[in-house]
Amino acid sequence: MMSRAEVSARVRAVMARMTLAEKIGQLSMLADGLVETGPPGPHNPFTMILEGRVGSLLNVWGRDLIREAQRKAVEESRLGVPLFFGLDVVHGHRSIHPVPLGEACAFDRELWEQTARDSAIEAVSDGIHMTFAPMIDVARDIRWGRIVECAGEDPYVNAEFARARVRGYQAADAEGFMRLAACAKHFCAYGAVLAGRDYAEADVSERTLHEVYLPPFKAAVEESVAAIMPAFVDVAGVAMTAHEKLMRGLLRTQWGFDGLIVSDYNAVSELMNHGVAADLAEAAALALHAGVDIDMMSEAFPQGLPVALERGAVSLEQIDDAVARVLAFKERMGLFDDPYRGIGVDISAGRAARRALSREAARRSIVLLRNEDAMLPLRAKSIALIGPMADAPEDQLGAWASAGAGAESITIVEGLRQGLAGAHVSFARGCAFTAPIDGGVDDAVMGARDADAVVLCIGEDRLSTGEAASRTKPEIPAAQLDLARAVYAAGKPVVLVLCVSRPLVLPDWLVDGARALLIGWHAGSEMGPALADILSGAFNPSARLCVSWPTTTGQTPVFFGMRPTGRPHDPNNGWSTGFLDAPYAPRFSFGEGIGYAHFTRGNLRLDEATINRHAVTTLRVDVTNVSEVPGVETLFLFARDPVAQVTRPLLELKDFTKVALAPGKTTQVSFSLRASDFSYLDSELQPRLDNGVIRLFVGASARASDLDCIELTIADGPREA
Ligand code: GLC
Repeated sequence: MMSRAEVSARVRAVMARMTLAEKIGQLSMLADGLVETGPPGPHNPFTMILEGRVGSLLNVWGRDLIREAQRKAVEESRLGVPLFFGLDVVHGHRSIHPVPLGEACAFDRELWEQTARDSAIEAVSDGIHMTFAPMIDVARDIRWGRIVECAGEDPYVNAEFARARVRGYQAADAEGFMRLAACAKHFCAYGAVLAGRDYAEADVSERTLHEVYLPPFKAAVEESVAAIMPAFVDVAGVAMTAHEKLMRGLLRTQWGFDGLIVSDYNAVSELMNHGVAADLAEAAALALHAGVDIDMMSEAFPQGLPVALERGAVSLEQIDDAVARVLAFKERMGLFDDPYRGIGVDISAGRAARRALSREAARRSIVLLRNEDAMLPLRAKSIALIGPMADAPEDQLGAWASAGAGAESITIVEGLRQGLAGAHVSFARGCAFTAPIDGGVDDAVMGARDADAVVLCIGEDRLSTGEAASRTKPEIPAAQLDLARAVYAAGKPVVLVLCVSRPLVLPDWLVDGARALLIGWHAGSEMGPALADILSGAFNPSARLCVSWPTTTGQTPVFFGMRPTGRPHDPNNGWSTGFLDAPYAPRFSFGEGIGYAHFTRGNLRLDEATINRHAVTTLRVDVTNVSEVPGVETLFLFARDPVAQVTRPLLELKDFTKVALAPGKTTQVSFSLRASDFSYLDSELQPRLDNGVIRLFVGASARASDLDCIELTIADGPREA
């Protein structure tokens, strides 16, 4: 609850003049139609602005539209309370960056912050005050379309991504105001939906909540995230929008989160669909009790709260508490001082730099997984560029591309023709995303036969990913596989570029038949030049997978943090965990990725191999670039607790870092460790730190073959001086 002392005199004065309808208006967020992100509503936002029955709008942007809406609110409504505007600025606003699942593969906290800051600059100039981002739902099920929006399978990576994004979005502007409020979403365990089916129940244990799904939100709160959005789902039977224990209990009381809680789209009304509210009044009361301040696009608060108040199901104080938080947010954003702050400010001078960052983010997100016979960098003088994704200006932007326009994309065909100097690049689409084109395959095969090498760009269209895009067959569409088969049969070396927003199940022949294989993701406005930079060798690829790629849909979820079981997988023992019809390991593991340089690791050591429970130590390893080209190596630090009171994951990611090395150079990479880093939740979900051995693994991926191990012992001993 906000203490009365925290509410400024100005806010109190405004509230004192408000009618109940005007107070509830501040708790209502309505959509207005530049982009549709949920079922349209029956209302006309502009009428409701005049009547003071809406406090914020979403899905509208642009200087003129925002100014007019704000002018109506400020000049024509009775109290003139300014609106705030929200939008899903998830991976860029006009200069679009790689989808988050792709940018997470850069494993670069500074990049993640920079791209968020650029997004904020562009969004604010279009009149936006809050982005519904970062999305930090740990996801391990490739059937779930929203996996695209998060930072992959690991809680620590999503937590680091959350910190960087919140810092980037909320950085202070020239006047010292928070530039763009971040709204971390979707609290919580949305990524655990049953069968990867969007909106389905998420039946996870308390342990999994605390070990996997909550840590990224804790990190966002520690970075002072301005808002949080509960997930659509019910978690173990309790609908998140009404989850008083996790929202008022854990989030607000235990973690001290004092920002706004903004419901997801129509989610308050949908408590009736969940079967936990009989009418709008009950739905409104449940959400308000749980801590929801703003009802996005539902009729529950506007119609239900007055009835709930009459019934005594909510108190005026509870409503006032939410209204005070909303008005305090507007005051913090400077809207009472200047309702038009930032709208339309000229940011054109920085456009080139923002596009350059978009290209840099794309280069550092594209993952090279195979490079047989060092086919890359390309030396071919005639290249047949083939596939629907090579000329896909809208689709390369990916889902949730905000105000990004395909017209401003540089496609792969444009990028390669500009970037592969001296090479002739022919182009054949070959097929559409999900259907053949008359003569398309023949044209493509002819192009392949006439060229020295093929660059084949296939994958998902953007509408096959994101919200309400769950797939039972997360595979490359048949028409594109038919094209690939025919092109492979032409017998020229193929560089396969998968332009996707989730791991897809790939046929062995498609992977094995490619001389080189890259995961291009949907890499944003500058995807073309970024890919050209990699294919030409102008940029040495450094990205690593942030999510495992299952071999079959039936194998999902598969991830490095699984538990050992009582019969750990043993290929030589049929009585061990695994499958009869699929391998135990994923096709590609977390952390996989190569570049044009090659690195070795050596001299792994600990400053102290035994420490007491309050101590710290440092793990060190020497890394050498043993190739003739400069490059960047990514190193992961995992831990394994072999004996504990509860079962512990096979690997837990504790840190990651990148190191740039010139040819032949060696450097020391170090990781600081505290004994407390290895505490865990015991059988009662209480923090526990045991004496004993912790196995530490350092390496280039979660594959055992890529890891070196050293043991740290934690023992009783004198408290450090
Ligand atoms: C959508 C999404 C949410 C988004 C909101 C507003 O349904 O679940 O992520 O922020 O509505 O567009």
